Amino acid sequence: MMGPGIMIDGKRVSLLWAGPERAADIARVHSRIFSPAWDEKSVHGLLDHPAATAFVATLAVPTEVIGFIIGQIAADESEILTVGVDPAYRKHGVGKLLAEGLMRAVGRAEVRRVYLEVATDNAAALHLYSKLGFVPAGVRKAYYTRPGSAPVDAVTMARALTA
Ligand SMILES: CC(C)(COP(=O)(O)OP(=O)(O)OC[C@H]1O[C@@H](n2cnc3c(N)ncnc32)[C@H](O)[C@@H]1OP(=O)(O)O)[C@@H](O)C(=O)NCCC(=O)NCCS
Repeated sequence: MMGPGIMIDGKRVSLLWAGPERAADIARVHSRIFSPAWDEKSVHGLLDHPAATAFVATLAVPTEVIGFIIGQIAADESEILTVGVDPAYRKHGVGKLLAEGLMRAVGRAEVRRVYLEVATDNAAALHLYSKLGFVPAGVRKAYYTRPGSAPVDAVTMARALTA
């Protein structure tokens, strides 16, 4: 039997596969989280790629998109290109739901390693990935440049998926 899953404000959170038709929804949430934001066209381009693996987290019916994850497979590896949860809905397990959904999906596609880059000052993402079994695999010095502040290193984190 299915467990209760994640509920926020009494509404159920669902994990749905995302194709190019979700580009506008994802771009909207992306713009609340990242600067510069990716526009709908760029998100559409990523989702339209045959190697894309993407999910949205939605809240209740009619469904509101509150989070997204986009990965891309190359041979037996998958890179997580972006993941984000609307600030109003964080710390309820939605990030974990999205990342676990992606890993389950790419694992079935014979991916054996998932990796990503994260800023060394991004406590939330570092915590999420460590919790999911990702370990540091290298550092890229001054990888993230942000207007008006010093550049920040990126750490590459990777997790093996068992067959
Ligand atoms: C990273 C992000 C996706 C996490 O989403 P979320 O839905 O809040 O994550 P979850 O609720 O699933 O939390 C996963 C774990 O991280 C922890 N965590 C979440 N936010 C945290 C924070 N700000 N500081 C420390 N730990 C944090 C949670 O407590 C949880 O750990 P636990 O199970 O030990 O309690 C979200 O903070 C976000 O969208 N950040 C901005 C975008 C971003 O940085 N993306 C990653 C770029 S690589």
